[in-house]
Amino acid sequence: MARPTTLFHLSDIHFGIEDNCALDWVRAEVERKKPDAVAITGDLTMRARTHEFAAAEEWIRSLPVPVTIEPGNHDLPAYYLPLRYLDPLARFEAFRDLVEQRLEMDGLAIVPLNTNVPAQPRFNWSKGWITEKALDACLSQIDSLPPHTRVLVTAHHPLREAGTRGTALTHNGNRALAALAKRKVLAVLSGHVHDAFDIMEATPNGPVRMIGAGTLSHRIRSTPPSFNELTWNGSELTVRVRNLEGVSSDDMMIDTVPEDAMPPREEGEPVAPVGRVPRTDPPLE
Ligand SMILES: [Fe+2]
Ligand SMILES: [Fe+2]
Repeated sequence: MARPTTLFHLSDIHFGIEDNCALDWVRAEVERKKPDAVAITGDLTMRARTHEFAAAEEWIRSLPVPVTIEPGNHDLPAYYLPLRYLDPLARFEAFRDLVEQRLEMDGLAIVPLNTNVPAQPRFNWSKGWITEKALDACLSQIDSLPPHTRVLVTAHHPLREAGTRGTALTHNGNRALAALAKRKVLAVLSGHVHDAFDIMEATPNGPVRMIGAGTLSHRIRSTPPSFNELTWNGSELTVRVRNLEGVSSDDMMIDTVPEDAMPPREEGEPVAPVGRVPRTDPPLE
């Protein structure tokens, strides 16, 4: 490999309550470092409103590198149920060309896995649900790649499934992880929990690495706004959690995916100060 492949993994921007200071910095970093691609793992918007998608489109189109987007549960039409059922991605109309798009680089591919459904037979529709059709689409894309191509799967919800309880995070997540463990998958990239993590999940077919990106919105959970910078050198994938607070990657990462993945605050509630360390300019590299 001539040079390492660099990816920026962004998630949960939630246009409508986006952190514009963080977004200005991320765009400047994209322009400065020119990553090979930007992967956004869902929840582009807060309520899937038209003006939120317009702001998302303007910002994403301004990035001078290839972009692929996974939709999140907040991106499905929330108020007009016929549209939610008939065309869940309707609000992406102006940039459908970027949604669920496979990207191929030098021996590395990003392959989407949709974890959203318009409705599900449990109370909390914000959680993930992987249909057989969605999993088959992901696996067939992986299987069609040239041999030796390594894969990063992009999904909105972490694939961890708690098991028997109805509150399991992502229905069919265990099944998807087991299928991905049989393939040349470097990691599954996801969002939704608004904190970063980098963990190994055991399956009957071997472990699968799961990497989560934090949020770039004001809807923080326990860490400041951030994104992940991924570097693949042909043998090792490294993750650096970039943030404006100067917090180290280790301190930014949570140890496990919480079963209750909802950020603690809803829209309109006060935003608590992060207060871990003073805000400073990011260190120059
Ligand atoms: Fe989110
Ligand atoms: Fe979400």
